Amino acid sequence: MKKVILAYSGGLDTSVCVKWLKDRGYEVIAYIGDVGQGEDFEKIEKRALDTGAKKVYIGDLKQEFISDFILPSLQANAAYEGKYLLATALSRPIIAKYLVETAHREKASVIAHGCTGKGNDQVRFEVTVHILDPKLEIIAPVRVWEFKSREEEIDYAKEQGIPLNVTKKKVYSIDKNLWGISIECGALENPWIEPPKDAYQMTQNPEDAPSKPTYIEIDFEKGIPSKINSQKYGLETLIKKLNETAGRNGVGRIDMVENRLVGIKSREIYEAPAATCLYLAHRELEALCLDRELLHFKEVLSLKYAELVYYGLWYSPLKKAIDAFIKETQKNISGTVRLKLYKGSCVAAGRKSPYSLYKEELATYTEKDKFDQKLAEGFIRLWGMPYRRQK
Ligand code: ARG
Repeated sequence: MKKVILAYSGGLDTSVCVKWLKDRGYEVIAYIGDVGQGEDFEKIEKRALDTGAKKVYIGDLKQEFISDFILPSLQANAAYEGKYLLATALSRPIIAKYLVETAHREKASVIAHGCTGKGNDQVRFEVTVHILDPKLEIIAPVRVWEFKSREEEIDYAKEQGIPLNVTKKKVYSIDKNLWGISIECGALENPWIEPPKDAYQMTQNPEDAPSKPTYIEIDFEKGIPSKINSQKYGLETLIKKLNETAGRNGVGRIDMVENRLVGIKSREIYEAPAATCLYLAHRELEALCLDRELLHFKEVLSLKYAELVYYGLWYSPLKKAIDAFIKETQKNISGTVRLKLYKGSCVAAGRKSPYSLYKEELATYTEKDKFDQKLAEGFIRLWGMPYRRQK
């Protein structure tokens, strides 16, 4: 019997995948990657076994996800099309890495996933698997199976006795991890419609958020968030705390129409409270501590970095080279940023750093001023010289 390692989430699609693969003669081994989605993994494991999986692996990937995936993209300030902070996109390469590892351990030659043929995730899973082990075969049942709708799929699941807790009414497709939530489908498919209240999962509606602002101070050490309000936390706890505090203030909602890799535009909404705060705080510190040329050049790379992550090219030579560059830029990114969270907004209210390049005696307009304004004239003459016409 051919063994297949299935990326399993416990949802409708991957559950039906177990049965579908089994019916085609495969021995199914389910792999669940814990990237902080906060599910009841025992229940999911049981569901996989009850649906026909031979064996279930649950990989706790949280620490590696934070240190090797979330952190580098935070340090890169990577945001796809300027908005999407990449929570789902970042989780795919690490899950794929462990699918490959599980395949090797189980001596399986096939990997399967439950992604649709219209999305980015199929690309991310498959490209990563192929980079890590080109010999592995891939099956994507959802791309080929016979169900034309979610309703048909649910009927099949019921018929086959697949244990599920879904209803035909559940409208949104949701992907969640520690770094954020991605939500699509249902009313969101019309880009003119404001997201219904029930679409958001982890943030307070800004209108109902506290009417007094919350101030928080975030410390970074060499580009790594280390403290909230002077209290040291490990990254997992720090992110969870920020998700909670910022989420309560309605911070971190993103509503966008994005360009998918497969060529279609889609409207999706995201919630990333902690990521929103950390991106802002990190950029504020960089503004203080990086010189102009480095900062501007880094911005160009941020754009590219976000594309590479979004496009599933995590394990590519360019991404690796940019990582080395980004790492070099973080040496002096230490200090504190004060953020003000208020009814959906998150703004910087203060920043300080021992590596600050801000010089008050140069910036000030008071008697403390040390800037020699007379030098500006010569500077401007030379600066503009190449563009001046000969008289
Ligand atoms: N569009 C996002 C991306 O490609 C999120 C997709 C997540 N899937 C979902 N079920 N909402 O990364």
